[in-house]
Amino acid sequence: MGENKIHFDTVFVAIHGTPGEDGKLQGYFDMLDIPYTSCDHATSALTFNKYFCKNFVAQLNVLTAKAVHLTKNENWDIDSILQQLTLPVFVKPNNGGSSVGMSKVNEKGELADAIKKAFREDNEILIEEFIEGREITCGILKKGKETIIFPLAEVISKNDFFDYEAKYNPDFVEEIIPAQIPEEVTEHCKQVSSFLYEKLKCKGVVRFDYIFNDKGMYFLEVNTVPGLTEASFIPQMANSYGMPLSDLFGLLVEGA
Ligand SMILES: Nc1ncnc2c1ncn2[C@@H]1O[C@H](COP(=O)(O)OP(=O)(O)O)[C@@H](O)[C@H]1O
Ligand SMILES: [Mg+2]
Repeated sequence: MGENKIHFDTVFVAIHGTPGEDGKLQGYFDMLDIPYTSCDHATSALTFNKYFCKNFVAQLNVLTAKAVHLTKNENWDIDSILQQLTLPVFVKPNNGGSSVGMSKVNEKGELADAIKKAFREDNEILIEEFIEGREITCGILKKGKETIIFPLAEVISKNDFFDYEAKYNPDFVEEIIPAQIPEEVTEHCKQVSSFLYEKLKCKGVVRFDYIFNDKGMYFLEVNTVPGLTEASFIPQMANSYGMPLSDLFGLLVEGA
């Protein structure tokens, strides 16, 4: 205080969303030469932008939902969107989180309102084909040569999708860890997650979300600063893996 400067050895990044998950803080800490526990600024910026990230992932031959990207100052019309995508579709802000501003659209007549709703949250939005299937999520951490992949979780929302209510009210969701899914799906999911972790140059603990069905496993998004409350996936996954949270946090700080 006063004349004294506090020097931070490491920053434990736990801010969901901006500025902790989109690369802003990471760039700032790089300039100050302070290590931190999350992905670097470039990876954070790429992965926080759902459109950029899904294109990156798709060129690695990982399945993603077919999508149309719109910006606010672009003209759009429902017919041309529906020439490119088959209903039902899913409309979401491009740089968001916690399922805010999202809608599942079953009929043409609902699409314009869903687009306007998403534009209230962001200047750019994604309209994706709705992937029917089972939703799973994979928590993974690499440190040096060591890779830890936690048991997968399956999300069974009682609502139309894993919406805001289901994310924050346990009465509206069932989270099953480890996911009770075929062994080959588990293995495939872990393999893809490990591959994407490398290709995206992730750091620290991240969570990859997917939906799978009989056509394959579709990448939804990656969370580079996943939730760490007791009810969040990563702490529950670590618990199922047999790793106390203090050990996980220790690994993250050492990794930084
Ligand atoms: N293309 C899609 N098809 C089906 N469900 C989807 C699709 N995209 C998102 N969802 C559902 O919406 C939820 C939130 O979407 P997501 O892209 O992960 O945004 P957020 O960053 O808000 O978590 C997902 O967990 C999933 O339940
Ligand atoms: Mg998500």
